Amino acid sequence: MLPLAAVIGDPISHSKSPRLHGYWLEQFGINGHYVPLHVPAEELENTLKLLPSLGFRGINVTIPHKERVLEMAREISPTAQRIGAANTLTFLDDGGFEADNTDAYGFLENLKHGAPDWDASAGPAAVLGAGGASRAILDALLQAGCPEIRLSNRTAQRAEAIKDIVGKRIKIVTWGNEEALYKDVALAVNTTSLGMKGQDNFPFSLRGLDEKALVTDLIYTPLQTPFLERASQLGCRTVDGLGMLLHQAVPGFHRWFGMRPEVTPELRALVLGS
Ligand code: ATR
Repeated sequence: MLPLAAVIGDPISHSKSPRLHGYWLEQFGINGHYVPLHVPAEELENTLKLLPSLGFRGINVTIPHKERVLEMAREISPTAQRIGAANTLTFLDDGGFEADNTDAYGFLENLKHGAPDWDASAGPAAVLGAGGASRAILDALLQAGCPEIRLSNRTAQRAEAIKDIVGKRIKIVTWGNEEALYKDVALAVNTTSLGMKGQDNFPFSLRGLDEKALVTDLIYTPLQTPFLERASQLGCRTVDGLGMLLHQAVPGFHRWFGMRPEVTPELRALVLGS
């Protein structure tokens, strides 16, 4: 059977994953396909049961299914368990699936490539946002040895709820209190949608942020977000969010198609142009 993989979500038309995996399939000369599938919530369970019998080795999962797939998984990786969401499913021989989350891996790999000398254990990190994406970033930073994370979110209860689950290295900072958020941090991360094309603009300065801090944003449309622009103006090094999308795809491709792909400037250019 032709090896197949997919990305499922609702909506799905904007996904860049087919282009990314399609590039790697072509590069390795693998006679397989990676397709976008529009799967509404009520079709999720049936779809997951059907796909392995059609030759699908695994799938990426995006909004709104990332949490719900955990309830249906035969096996859950420790990372997906801690984050409470999965983005990479691999079908098992018995038709069930293993659920993993590679967003934390993608985040750290992007920083490793963009700022090779950055060290998570070097100092506190500031994280803006306490939504779904934030959970993966917090997990990545804690696993990598970050000593303290200042977490700030417009809706304070959401940050409190994460602190209750994730634990004591999280310190909540009031939304808009830039000085408390950025003082002495080695890394600042925007996980909110502020500054994304079509969303509200990023309303704050980065007052108090040291010029030695590394700054990154999960948003990649635009590539140069207002958050990154303000950091650059302060003299900080920045890493844009596109690399996280590219790197999080590597483990899935490797599992499903048997080859470990690389994230190259050519791939980056291809995905940017799509
Ligand atoms: P994702 O999975 O991308 O994290 P999400 O779970 O909807 O998506 O979370 C969006 C994040 O952006 C949240 O931290 C949200 O803040 P709230 O929890 O207060 O909603 C943040 N966000 C979105 N729009 C915002 C705005 N206009 N001002 C401040 N924060 C905003």
